[in-house]
Amino acid sequence: MFFADIGLDVVAIDLSDAAIRMLQKLERGNPHFICGDFINESVHQSKSYDYAYSRFTIHAINSKQEQLLLRSMYRALKPGGKFFIEVRGIHDPLYGKGQQQERNAFFYNNHYRRFIVMDELVAALRKIGFRVEYAQERTGFAPYGNDDPPVIRIVAIRQEG
Ligand SMILES: C[S@@+](CC[C@H](N)C(=O)[O-])C[C@H]1O[C@@H](n2cnc3c(N)ncnc32)[C@H](O)[C@@H]1O
Repeated sequence: MFFADIGLDVVAIDLSDAAIRMLQKLERGNPHFICGDFINESVHQSKSYDYAYSRFTIHAINSKQEQLLLRSMYRALKPGGKFFIEVRGIHDPLYGKGQQQERNAFFYNNHYRRFIVMDELVAALRKIGFRVEYAQERTGFAPYGNDDPPVIRIVAIRQEG
């Protein structure tokens, strides 16, 4: 909604049918809300996005899905397009809480969270063909109420090709 309000044409995708139906009732036109799997290449048109923004979604998927998502975003962005990522990292105070699911992933408080190693995500983006313009992990990126966990923020640029 923020990006739409500043004049960008926004496609907003989430798997949650309930959330998307509620947002579609607002009948705003922009953002255009889609209930779908953002990993799936067919949800995005090839070379159609100037920007992609993944806010707190990469830690909601497993490592295989992450690989597919990065490829899908590479394909969906125009050459020179930017991929903005904000995600929980291994220095988050929630790390290690709950039942372990896979490496760095835990189920806690009804949430699956896979805490990201920043250097690994940067390397994965580079391998696919992104140039990483910015990568930081620190507090102050996503304060919410009394919480201000260290969060990873990355800006990656899709190279020509
Ligand atoms: C931690 S929430 C973050 C929600 C929102 N981006 C925010 O910043 O408040 C993670 C979201 O990712 C969505 N999600 C998880 N896997 C998905 C997938 N494969 N395709 C689309 N959405 C997905 C979930 O439904 C959930 O709404």
